[in-house]
Amino acid sequence: MKRSKGLLLVLLAVFAILLLAACGSTAVTPDPNAPKPSNSGGTGKALTLTGDPVAGKEIFDRTCATCHGSEGTGGVENSGAAEEVPELKPADEFYNADPAVFAANLDLFIEHGSKPEGDNPTLSMPAFGDDGTLTAQQIADVIAYVISLNKK
Ligand code: HEC
Repeated sequence: MKRSKGLLLVLLAVFAILLLAACGSTAVTPDPNAPKPSNSGGTGKALTLTGDPVAGKEIFDRTCATCHGSEGTGGVENSGAAEEVPELKPADEFYNADPAVFAANLDLFIEHGSKPEGDNPTLSMPAFGDDGTLTAQQIADVIAYVISLNKK
Protein backbone atom coordinates (compact mmCIF):
# COMPACT_ATOMS: atom_id res chain seq x y z
CA MET A 1 0.00 0.00 0.00
CA LYS A 2 2.68 2.48 1.01
CA ARG A 3 4.72 1.65 -2.06
CA SER A 4 1.91 2.23 -4.53
CA LYS A 5 1.20 5.62 -2.96
CA GLY A 6 4.80 6.66 -3.59
CA LEU A 7 4.55 5.51 -7.19
CA LEU A 8 1.38 7.51 -7.64
CA LEU A 9 3.14 10.65 -6.39
CA VAL A 10 6.03 10.11 -8.79
CA LEU A 11 3.59 9.65 -11.69
CA LEU A 12 1.74 12.83 -10.72
CA ALA A 13 5.00 14.77 -10.61
CA VAL A 14 6.03 13.50 -14.06
CA PHE A 15 2.62 14.42 -15.44
CA ALA A 16 2.84 17.95 -14.01
CA ILE A 17 6.30 18.46 -15.56
CA LEU A 18 5.09 17.25 -18.97
CA LEU A 19 2.08 19.57 -18.79
CA LEU A 20 4.27 22.57 -17.96
CA ALA A 21 6.66 21.75 -20.81
CA ALA A 22 3.75 21.49 -23.28
CA CYS A 23 2.38 24.89 -22.24
CA GLY A 24 5.76 26.58 -22.44
CA SER A 25 6.47 25.39 -25.97
CA THR A 26 3.33 26.98 -27.47
CA ALA A 27 4.23 30.50 -26.35
CA VAL A 28 6.06 32.10 -29.29
CA THR A 29 7.51 35.53 -28.72
CA PRO A 30 8.17 38.04 -31.49
CA ASP A 31 11.74 39.20 -32.07
CA PRO A 32 12.21 42.15 -29.65
CA ASN A 33 14.26 43.95 -32.34
CA ALA A 34 11.59 43.72 -35.06
CA PRO A 35 9.43 46.84 -35.58
CA LYS A 36 6.23 46.95 -33.52
CA PRO A 37 2.78 48.31 -34.50
CA SER A 38 1.54 51.58 -32.98
CA ASN A 39 -1.46 49.70 -31.51
CA SER A 40 -0.70 47.58 -28.47
CA GLY A 41 -1.55 43.95 -27.76
CA GLY A 42 -0.01 40.51 -27.75
CA THR A 43 0.09 37.72 -30.30
CA GLY A 44 -3.15 36.00 -31.30
CA LYS A 45 -4.63 32.54 -31.57
CA ALA A 46 -3.50 32.32 -35.21
CA LEU A 47 -0.02 31.34 -34.02
CA THR A 48 -1.38 28.10 -32.54
CA LEU A 49 -2.93 27.09 -35.89
CA THR A 50 -1.35 25.69 -39.07
CA GLY A 51 -1.63 28.14 -41.95
CA ASP A 52 -2.30 27.18 -45.58
CA PRO A 53 -0.31 29.44 -47.96
CA VAL A 54 -2.62 28.68 -50.92
CA ALA A 55 -5.72 29.87 -49.03
CA GLY A 56 -3.53 32.72 -47.71
CA LYS A 57 -2.75 33.93 -51.23
CA GLU A 58 -6.48 34.28 -51.99
CA ILE A 59 -7.01 36.27 -48.79
CA PHE A 60 -3.95 38.40 -49.54
CA ASP A 61 -5.08 39.18 -53.10
CA ARG A 62 -8.47 40.47 -51.98
CA THR A 63 -7.55 41.96 -48.58
CA CYS A 64 -3.94 43.15 -48.56
CA ALA A 65 -2.72 43.67 -52.13
CA THR A 66 -4.46 47.06 -52.63
CA CYS A 67 -2.14 48.53 -49.99
CA HIS A 68 0.94 46.27 -50.08
CA GLY A 69 1.03 45.58 -53.82
CA SER A 70 0.69 42.33 -55.74
CA GLU A 71 2.71 39.61 -53.96
CA GLY A 72 3.56 42.20 -51.31
CA THR A 73 6.11 43.98 -53.49
CA GLY A 74 4.91 47.44 -52.39
CA GLY A 75 5.10 50.68 -54.39
CA VAL A 76 1.79 52.07 -53.04
CA GLU A 77 1.80 55.83 -52.30
CA ASN A 78 0.53 56.95 -48.89
CA SER A 79 0.04 60.73 -48.91
CA GLY A 80 0.36 62.34 -45.48
CA ALA A 81 2.60 59.49 -44.28
CA ALA A 82 6.36 59.65 -43.94
CA GLU A 83 6.81 56.73 -46.37
CA GLU A 84 5.02 54.58 -48.94
CA VAL A 85 3.05 51.61 -47.60
CA PRO A 86 5.82 49.13 -46.67
CA GLU A 87 6.47 46.17 -48.94
CA LEU A 88 6.21 42.70 -47.37
CA LYS A 89 8.58 41.08 -49.86
CA PRO A 90 11.35 41.33 -48.90
CA ALA A 91 10.25 41.52 -45.26
CA ASP A 92 13.58 43.08 -44.21
CA GLU A 93 13.49 43.82 -40.46
CA PHE A 94 10.52 41.48 -40.03
CA TYR A 95 12.23 38.49 -41.52
CA ASN A 96 13.41 35.76 -39.15
CA ALA A 97 14.99 32.48 -40.19
CA ASP A 98 12.85 30.79 -37.52
CA PRO A 99 9.35 30.62 -39.11
CA ALA A 100 7.67 30.70 -35.67
CA VAL A 101 9.35 33.99 -34.76
CA PHE A 102 8.76 35.39 -38.26
CA ALA A 103 5.05 34.50 -37.88
CA ALA A 104 4.90 36.22 -34.47
CA ASN A 105 6.50 39.40 -35.90
CA LEU A 106 3.82 39.54 -38.64
CA ASP A 107 0.96 38.54 -36.36
CA LEU A 108 1.16 41.63 -34.12
CA PHE A 109 0.54 43.96 -37.10
CA ILE A 110 -2.27 41.85 -38.56
CA GLU A 111 -4.04 41.45 -35.17
CA HIS A 112 -3.85 45.03 -33.94
CA GLY A 113 -3.14 47.31 -36.94
CA SER A 114 -0.81 50.31 -36.99
CA LYS A 115 -0.85 53.99 -37.90
CA PRO A 116 2.27 54.95 -39.84
CA GLU A 117 4.38 57.99 -39.01
CA GLY A 118 3.44 61.27 -40.69
CA ASP A 119 1.06 64.23 -40.26
CA ASN A 120 -2.07 62.65 -41.65
CA PRO A 121 -1.59 59.25 -43.29
CA THR A 122 -4.27 58.36 -45.86
CA LEU A 123 -3.70 54.63 -45.34
CA SER A 124 -3.27 52.86 -42.00
CA MET A 125 -2.81 49.18 -41.34
CA PRO A 126 -6.25 47.82 -40.29
CA ALA A 127 -6.66 45.70 -37.11
CA PHE A 128 -7.89 42.53 -38.82
CA GLY A 129 -7.84 40.44 -35.64
CA ASP A 130 -9.24 42.98 -33.17
CA ASP A 131 -11.97 44.09 -35.61
CA GLY A 132 -12.89 40.49 -36.40
CA THR A 133 -12.44 41.13 -40.15
CA LEU A 134 -10.35 37.96 -40.44
CA THR A 135 -10.70 34.78 -38.39
CA ALA A 136 -7.71 33.29 -36.56
CA GLN A 137 -7.46 30.64 -39.30
CA GLN A 138 -7.49 33.29 -42.05
CA ILE A 139 -4.73 35.20 -40.23
CA ALA A 140 -2.71 31.96 -39.95
CA ASP A 141 -3.21 31.38 -43.72
CA VAL A 142 -2.14 34.90 -44.71
CA ILE A 143 0.92 34.66 -42.42
CA ALA A 144 1.87 31.34 -44.11
CA TYR A 145 1.57 33.07 -47.50
CA VAL A 146 3.77 36.05 -46.49
CA ILE A 147 6.35 33.60 -45.11
CA SER A 148 6.24 31.67 -48.42
CA LEU A 149 6.91 34.93 -50.31
CA ASN A 150 10.10 35.36 -48.28
CA LYS A 151 11.50 31.82 -48.59
CA LYS A 152 15.24 32.09 -49.09
C1 HEC B 1 -5.61 50.17 -46.01
C2 HEC B 1 -4.27 49.74 -46.36
C3 HEC B 1 -3.73 48.44 -45.79
C4 HEC B 1 -4.28 47.18 -45.90
C5 HEC B 1 -5.59 46.78 -46.55
C6 HEC B 1 -3.31 46.29 -45.29
N1 HEC B 1 -2.24 46.99 -44.80
FE1 HEC B 1 -0.62 46.20 -43.86
N2 HEC B 1 0.10 48.09 -43.55
C7 HEC B 1 -0.47 49.26 -44.03
C8 HEC B 1 0.33 50.39 -43.61
C9 HEC B 1 0.08 51.86 -43.92
C10 HEC B 1 1.41 49.86 -42.84
C11 HEC B 1 2.53 50.64 -42.12
C12 HEC B 1 2.16 50.77 -40.66
C13 HEC B 1 3.23 51.50 -39.86
O1 HEC B 1 4.18 52.03 -40.42
O2 HEC B 1 3.06 51.56 -38.62
C14 HEC B 1 1.23 48.42 -42.85
C15 HEC B 1 2.10 47.53 -42.21
C16 HEC B 1 2.02 46.15 -42.31
C17 HEC B 1 2.99 45.26 -41.78
C18 HEC B 1 4.27 45.69 -41.09
C19 HEC B 1 5.30 45.86 -42.20
C20 HEC B 1 6.29 46.97 -42.03
O3 HEC B 1 7.36 46.91 -42.69
O4 HEC B 1 6.03 47.94 -41.26
C21 HEC B 1 2.56 43.98 -42.06
C22 HEC B 1 3.26 42.70 -41.72
C23 HEC B 1 1.32 44.12 -42.79
N3 HEC B 1 1.01 45.45 -42.92
C24 HEC B 1 0.58 43.05 -43.28
C25 HEC B 1 -0.65 43.17 -43.90
C26 HEC B 1 -1.48 42.06 -44.31
C27 HEC B 1 -1.07 40.59 -44.19
C28 HEC B 1 -2.63 42.58 -44.82
C29 HEC B 1 -3.86 41.84 -45.28
C30 HEC B 1 -4.46 40.89 -44.35
C31 HEC B 1 -2.49 44.03 -44.76
N4 HEC B 1 -1.29 44.35 -44.20
C32 HEC B 1 -3.47 44.92 -45.22
C33 HEC B 1 -1.61 49.36 -44.79
C34 HEC B 1 -2.45 48.31 -45.09
